[in-house]
Parts: sequence; C-alpha cells; structure tokens
Amino acid sequence: MKINLTLLGGLSVDKFLREYWQKKPLLIRQAIPGFNGLLDPAQLAELACNPEAQSRLVQFKRNKWHLQHGPFDEQSLDSLGKSGWTLLVQGINHFLPGAADLLQQFSFIPHSRLDDLMVSYAPKNGGVGPHFDSYDVFLLQGMGHRRWQISAQQDRTLIPDAPLRILQNFSPEEDWILEPGDMLYLPPHWAHNGIAQDNCMTYSIGFRTPSYHELGEQFLVYLQDHLKLDGMYADPDLKPQAHPSEISADMLQQVKAVIQKIRWNDTDIARFLGTYMSEPKPHVYFDPPDNPMSHKRFIQSLDKSGIRLDLKSLMLCHDNCAFINGEAHDLDTPDIAAIRLLADTRQFPAHSQLSSTATDMLYAWYQEGFLVFPGKK
Ligand code: SIN
Ligand code: CO
Repeated sequence: MKINLTLLGGLSVDKFLREYWQKKPLLIRQAIPGFNGLLDPAQLAELACNPEAQSRLVQFKRNKWHLQHGPFDEQSLDSLGKSGWTLLVQGINHFLPGAADLLQQFSFIPHSRLDDLMVSYAPKNGGVGPHFDSYDVFLLQGMGHRRWQISAQQDRTLIPDAPLRILQNFSPEEDWILEPGDMLYLPPHWAHNGIAQDNCMTYSIGFRTPSYHELGEQFLVYLQDHLKLDGMYADPDLKPQAHPSEISADMLQQVKAVIQKIRWNDTDIARFLGTYMSEPKPHVYFDPPDNPMSHKRFIQSLDKSGIRLDLKSLMLCHDNCAFINGEAHDLDTPDIAAIRLLADTRQFPAHSQLSSTATDMLYAWYQEGFLVFPGKK
C-alpha cells in the first residue's frame, strides 16, 4: 500500500504497524503539510444543526462538565460564550467528499476497522477533559493549535456522576502543542487531554474495535437468522415421572444432542463479519435516486463515467463475496477484481469490463442509493 510519504512521518507502514499500532503513541509533525482543515467553524455548526449528523456540545461551567446532544439550533450555538466549550460532530465523511478522501489516506488500516471522521471545534481553552477512548485514533490538527497531554497511566478511575467520561486523576507524562497538519496517533486506553490554544479544530480519524462480547452476541443473532435444524422433539418412550414438574434427564439429553448439531465454518464467520461490519449505524439511511435511470442508461453512464460509493456506504470483501451496507453478494470469478477495486478505492473507473450479472448488481445498488455517479454528493 502506497501512502503519502509524510503521513507517518517517514515511517513505512510495516514499521508503523510493528512498532506503534495498538502499542504506543506517535507524534508526527507535519503529517499533512499545508493541512488547514476541510470545513470552517460555521460549516461545522451547520452540520451540528443537521438531524442526520450526530453532534455533541461539551461545556465546562460552574466547575462542572455538561453534555448536550444535537441536533442543535443555530441560535443556541451562536449564544455560546467565548470559551469553555467544544462542539463535536461525528461521521463528517458522510457529508464531505473531502473527508472521505482524507480517510482514504488511512487505507493502510483495513476498512473493517475504520469508524469515522469526527471533527471538533473549540475556542481557546476548550476541550472535552482528560479521558481515554477504547478506539485507536489519529488526532489530526486542522485550524489553530491544540495542546495534547498524554499518559500511559493505569488508573482509569472516572469522575463519578459526570455526564461524560472524565479521568479523576490525570497525570500527564508527555505534552505537545500541535499545529495545523501535525498528527498524534493514540492506541486504545491511552489517557489524553486536548486543550485548545486558540480557535481550534481537530480531526479524529477513529478506528473501532468491537468487544468479544459484542462479536459473540452478534454472531448468535447471525446464526439465528441462518439456522436450519430439521425434525422436532419427540418422546415415544416417555416413562412415568414421580414429579411432573421435573425436566427429565431424557429431555435434557435429547435437546443437548440437537443443540450440539449447530455448526459453523469459516464461511459463516466471514459472512457474519462482512454483514455485521458493513452494517450502517442505526441513524444512517440511504436516499434512493428520485428519478432512477433506466437499466440501459445506467449501463451507458457506468461505462462513460464510472461510479462511486455513496459517502455513507460501507463495503468490505472476503474471497468471492462482497458486503455492502449489511448485504452479502457472491461474485462471479471474472468480476471479483473489478468489484474489489470499488470496495478498496470507493470508486469504479469508466470503461470497465463487467459481466451482466455484475452490472445488474451495481444497478440494484444504485437504486438503493448505495452508489452514485461522480459529481453527485
Ligand atoms: C476533541 O477533538 O476535542 C476530542 C478528541 C478526543 O480526545 O478524542
Ligand atoms: Co479522546
């Protein structure tokens, strides 16, 4: 995977993954030289008023932390004071093509691990307090300057009754001021505190790690949907019971034998992972085109201009199976490379050779709003 040379401060992806990823923080000065952000505070505030975006306002006033969830109205954001607050908006990549392009620069980490791009704005002294996340995150500085203090401390005691997770005892071990284009990588559970030094915007490229519990629970949901066990409970040899309320050993053994027949293999695990990890978050909806093209016109446009994933689409692959927004699709061998290119790069070049099965599949995805033609948001 070729990446922008400066993004990891001259480290190769191999070296970064071996020495830092999930192990220790890395400060990269001028990871993206000239980066000054993708949107301004007014545009962020506008998104925070959009019901389709997930936004939060964190305030520290009268010696207490306060948290409000969006959508906000313009007046309440306009009336915020000159300091002591931070506005955060998740999923910026669903709204700005430039944000999706920024995330593509982080494709040296698999898409299955990517969560989203969150952007925060804070006037001088604003911040969300010392805390830790269960995510890997690249904190890229946009406009302004942010002081980052970090610590490997094991004490994770939180302030009781605070509306957000704030560490009770934060003991910073390292301290830097980040300028536009600087970036700090933090592994999960690393304590950190970011304090705006001036009007400051920070871009958090977040990577999720599902808990084993979540994976196990969701796999059982998958199994439930795909389970097929023939036959039914039978007891032609039923014996008289002294206690009719007793669940007999015979019943227990018969049910145990049936339950033990439930089996799964690598294909089930891959299908579960592909559908679950590409499932859109609950607040995400797709907008099918208002006046969809006919199949014939679609094929002509596809050939002429290529197509790309909608900003909200999530696409993953395993072997000959493609997963898009929670759906699994088996691919014919000649189409695998082309469909994988769409999943890897989020776009599909013009003049690609595709079977009619593949174009039918793309047409269905286009009708669902999963794909859009270049130039469309
Ligand atoms: C922020 O951008 O203010 C907070 C980011 C973080 O600490 O995870
Ligand atoms: Co954090």
